[in-house]
Amino acid sequence: MQGRIVPANAEWIEEAGHLIRSGALVAFPTETVYGLGADATNGEAVARVFAAKGRPSFNPLIVHVLGLEQAVIIGSFSATARRLADAFWPGPLTLVVPRIETTEVSELVSAGLPTVALRSPEHAVARELLKSAQRPIAAPSANRSGHVSATRAEHVAADLGDNAAVILDAGQTPRGLESTVLSLTGAAPVLLRPGAISSEAIEDILGEKIVRASESGKHLTSPGQLRSHYAPDSKLRLNAEIWEPHEAVLAFGPIAERPAKAIINISPSGDLIEAAANLFAALRRLDGSGAETIAVTPIPAHGLGEAINDRLARAAAPRD
Ligand code: TXA
Ligand code: MG
Repeated sequence: MQGRIVPANAEWIEEAGHLIRSGALVAFPTETVYGLGADATNGEAVARVFAAKGRPSFNPLIVHVLGLEQAVIIGSFSATARRLADAFWPGPLTLVVPRIETTEVSELVSAGLPTVALRSPEHAVARELLKSAQRPIAAPSANRSGHVSATRAEHVAADLGDNAAVILDAGQTPRGLESTVLSLTGAAPVLLRPGAISSEAIEDILGEKIVRASESGKHLTSPGQLRSHYAPDSKLRLNAEIWEPHEAVLAFGPIAERPAKAIINISPSGDLIEAAANLFAALRRLDGSGAETIAVTPIPAHGLGEAINDRLARAAAPRD
């Protein structure tokens, strides 16, 4: 009965809430990608998440909450942090803030850092699970460390198998790209990970430019930004205008007709939102095609293109 995919209906969400409270791991859909959830206040359950992920234990996890009321007893929210939560929660913005000393959230969640990452998901199944569990839920993306994120229940099962007691299946996740991670622990907001909410949208609310971690040198303290984090087994060749018949192709927008081992166009019409939703599933399928190389056609860098290109650059980076 381990690791089974179950429908995300009221009965199973109720059962999943009990499982979380009992220290088990539950994989669940969010609007971004599937998460592998554990009771954030239960250190052993959190440790099992790291074990299941095969993730280096210094990589901290996001704590999922219903909203600001639950968040402010875990992390310390400045006026800026509140403004962003008001604007984007529930939704795919993760805010890294100072931990409150009295929080019941396990320190393992923060991997020893004096900060905590919080987000309020908007997916109805994630919200119902949070209500049923009555606990903040620590959840990384439900893939093995170094693999691409899972956007379908079957991807979770393939990557994590029996590590999740149940996998709540609600089909494909709508956004298909992880949340944007913004640090509010220094003098100015720092973008630690581009994601489903664009930098421009955040800058509109703040009325100022945000600093990219890559510009501030802060990436050294954000272990999630390890260059080879998002790594398929195949090699990636970026900005490929043409390709060889033995290569697999991840395409975007209108492309030339040319033979290839496999071709997936993540948005034939050139829509970055559609492309984001299809990205990880396409990478997985192409990675499984047996081709040594995946040629990736050029993808524009604006809007969600920043996050897509960021993921692809990581996937293409040399392995540690
Ligand atoms: O969309 C998402 O964010 C998904 C869904 C499940 O919510 N979760 C997700 O979690 O992508 P994960 O663990 O794969 O990525 C969390 C990112 C990592 O880059 C991690 O380093 C960063 O957030 N992070 C978490 N806590 C942090 C902290 N205290 N300081 C700096 N970075 C932190
Ligand atoms: Mg991840």
